[in-house]
Amino acid sequence: MSQGLDGNGIVIVDDDDEFLSETKRLFEGSVPTARTLPDVQRQVEDGEVDLVILGPSFAHEGALEGVSALLEAVPDLAVVLVARTITAPLLRTAMRAGLKDVIEAPLTSPKVAEVLPHKEREPQVPAAPPPPAEPFETPQRDGKIITVMSAKGGSGKTVTATNVARLLADRHDPEGVVVVDADLQFGDVCLVLQLEPKLTIVNAAHELHRLDEALLQSVLTRHPSGLRVLAAPLEPAFADEISTGAMTQILAMLKGMFDYIVIDTASLLDELLLSLLERSDQVLFIVEMDLPSVKNAKLALETLRLLKFPFAKIQLVLNRSNAKARLDEREIERSLKLKIAAAIPSDGLVPASVNEGRPVVDSAPKSKVAKGFESVAELVLGDRSPSSGDGSRRRWR
Ligand SMILES: Nc1ncnc2c1ncn2[C@@H]1O[C@H](COP(=O)(O)OP(=O)(O)O)[C@@H](O)[C@H]1O
Ligand SMILES: [Mg+2]
Repeated sequence: MSQGLDGNGIVIVDDDDEFLSETKRLFEGSVPTARTLPDVQRQVEDGEVDLVILGPSFAHEGALEGVSALLEAVPDLAVVLVARTITAPLLRTAMRAGLKDVIEAPLTSPKVAEVLPHKEREPQVPAAPPPPAEPFETPQRDGKIITVMSAKGGSGKTVTATNVARLLADRHDPEGVVVVDADLQFGDVCLVLQLEPKLTIVNAAHELHRLDEALLQSVLTRHPSGLRVLAAPLEPAFADEISTGAMTQILAMLKGMFDYIVIDTASLLDELLLSLLERSDQVLFIVEMDLPSVKNAKLALETLRLLKFPFAKIQLVLNRSNAKARLDEREIERSLKLKIAAAIPSDGLVPASVNEGRPVVDSAPKSKVAKGFESVAELVLGDRSPSSGDGSRRRWR
């Protein structure tokens, strides 16, 4: 293994001698080691340490408890964990403990170089291609951002977002479509697509300072169809870790990587949603045929009107259009001052497909409800908004 990494300010902690000696070999000079977290507490408190590398013996719940004491002493301290296998529960535990990163064993110079705080990178590490001066202004692609929203939970946003994305992947290019689960507390895009994300938007937000397209791509979860998903946090508590700024930065990068970015949202007209709308080329506004749904839709649309949101971007999608307690469609259009652009009938196939983890456009492509989703996908495919591109950062207020 080549020498060269600056070992200053680093401590390696593990109870396995082999791990300690192999890791020490990655660094120049002598790097201190310890067997337990209390053993390094003093050095940390004295301000001698800025990176703690924990070995695989810490890769389980309970073992990371002492980390918070270290971070209390030095909040800027970077603690990383080397694990033989990275599982979702381990990532959760690591995030909760405040770790900066979890690195898959074996540890190599390039992997350490990635996490070294304010240190010179090892010269042998292959240099990344020089970043463009304005990485977000010169994307290779110029994807269309489609936000699926509604003013009431359970309206069918997630089933619409996932079915439409599946259709876009089929009709267009599976590698060119990504679903962003922006329902940060209760996102269930992965659930309805039967995906088990290893990494989520939380990982992307934590790596914001060094996020590039390759890293962001590695955070995405791949559906067997090729469609990509940026998964929501695994627990509601992590939603707070995603700032609106982080979300918009991630979105700007995805716009350069994909042709269609379909955003599933929570039914919350908050700062995050407004900021997503601001960057959207098209908005699929889902409304159901019951009174509370129409009332909430009216309130939300009035708010958007007050904010001077360009209504040409909004397309009204009626879900469960054949529901029993139906209001008159013309009445809904009059009340919302928008024409219904597409309709999805109510069908027991939808909850069945959700339980099965397969979009209904895959499990029953000939059904009426699948045709309903197709009519929504047509809206997306047929309307390449002229505002995409430079308009992505324009404020409407
Ligand atoms: N057209 C439909 N027909 C039958 N059931 C539907 C339909 N649309 C949505 N559902 C069901 O309603 C529930 C809520 O849908 P979901 O997409 O999760 O809503 P949201 O994301 O807006 O909260 C799901 O269990 C889904 O199966
Ligand atoms: Mg949902």
